[in-house]
Amino acid sequence: MFVDHLSLLDFRTYASLDLPLVRGLTVFVGPNGVGKTNVVEAIDWAANLSSHRVASDTPLIKTGAERAIVRIRVRRATHHTVLEFELNDGRANRVQINRAAPVRAREAMGVLHTVVFSPEDLTLVKGDPGHRRKFLDDLATSMRPVLVAARSDYDRALKQRNALLKSARYSRQNAQSHQATLAVWNEQLARAGAAVMGARLQLLKALEPEVDRAYQQLTDGPKHVGLRYECSSVDPAVDSAALEHFSVGDLYELMLQAFDRVQRQEQERGITLVGPHRDDMVISLGDTPAKGYASHGETWSTALALRLGSWYVHVADDPNEGAAPVLILDDVFAELDARRRQKLAQLVQRAEQVLVTAAVDEDLPRALRENPHRVVRVSPGRVDVQDAPAGEAPPDRGEHD
Ligand SMILES: Nc1ncnc2c1ncn2[C@@H]1O[C@H](COP(=O)(O)OP(=O)(O)OP(=O)(O)O)[C@@H](O)[C@H]1O
Ligand SMILES: [Mg+2]
Repeated sequence: MFVDHLSLLDFRTYASLDLPLVRGLTVFVGPNGVGKTNVVEAIDWAANLSSHRVASDTPLIKTGAERAIVRIRVRRATHHTVLEFELNDGRANRVQINRAAPVRAREAMGVLHTVVFSPEDLTLVKGDPGHRRKFLDDLATSMRPVLVAARSDYDRALKQRNALLKSARYSRQNAQSHQATLAVWNEQLARAGAAVMGARLQLLKALEPEVDRAYQQLTDGPKHVGLRYECSSVDPAVDSAALEHFSVGDLYELMLQAFDRVQRQEQERGITLVGPHRDDMVISLGDTPAKGYASHGETWSTALALRLGSWYVHVADDPNEGAAPVLILDDVFAELDARRRQKLAQLVQRAEQVLVTAAVDEDLPRALRENPHRVVRVSPGRVDVQDAPAGEAPPDRGEHD
């Protein structure tokens, strides 16, 4: 798939932007802070309804404006879809597909797929477990948008259960009624949690070999990448490798048993101590964990392999023509050594559309510069398309009102 048109109104630095895009490689070039990432962020937002940079939508709306509009046209094989989003500060966003009546936001998920590489990906390897949980959940959700419901049910039930545990510490509420209410939340949390865990485990099975393959391609090194699910609900005495064979029903039972096991500690501390919100994905390189052990270069290669592996998983999940996700490489080449730049550049060119941001042309690897590509010069609040590759038809007139 590829995005053939993007328009923005009051999005980040752009009061108004109208940008036709083409298949193949497009490079956004301009000095620091001019708005290169803002453009690709809008495209990624339209795919996942969340930004790779910020947790809330508020910073996406231009300072002083009340709402932002992102309109994107996606081409998949011969099929076109227009997605339009109105991002409202403090109110629900408005979403339209092909200019029809507004729909729920999650219905727009899955129309466009993106995989974004950015320097922040180092936190996937070095950072807190929350980054890895979000990585798994976002990837799983982009392929199975129904997971949005399980994730929000889980977050809601977790908040309620934590509030109950906290209030029980201070109140003289009768123990029996507390137990009865807790049992209700246990049940709800376990149901949503089992769905989330089940999706993560299934994804990990597909992801591990692809991430390892990507790592081998990027490094030619002797080390292999391993991904293992570390599950807070498993009795510490039990081997968590068995989880691989668990059904969603088994995971539900596992969570209920875990609540029984940690009941006393949870009551003392007033928070939920087991469940997918406390789990992690342990990344290993050879025999050692990547976190805390990997060198700087190995950390970079692992982070890139996680993203490239995600792209491979998408492609395996939907091998149909035009289904491969758009690849976005935000400011990554400047950070890599020459060898890895070349390798990454060669590998990413298999995508139907690749969008790259770079502060200066020299940051681009030769493998990219030598191939036909379009350059978009970015200056504050505006963009200028500098050259279109030969043979690419200009966008039809009148399509984008
Ligand atoms: N909501 C907003 N309203 C107005 N300006 C904003 C908003 N959000 C971010 N900016 C401005 O956008 C600029 C950053 O844009 P962006 O991150 O796209 O830069 P960049 O070209 O990718 O730079 P770099 O090369 O450093 O990565 C900053 O100057 C910031 O102040
Ligand atoms: Mg940037």
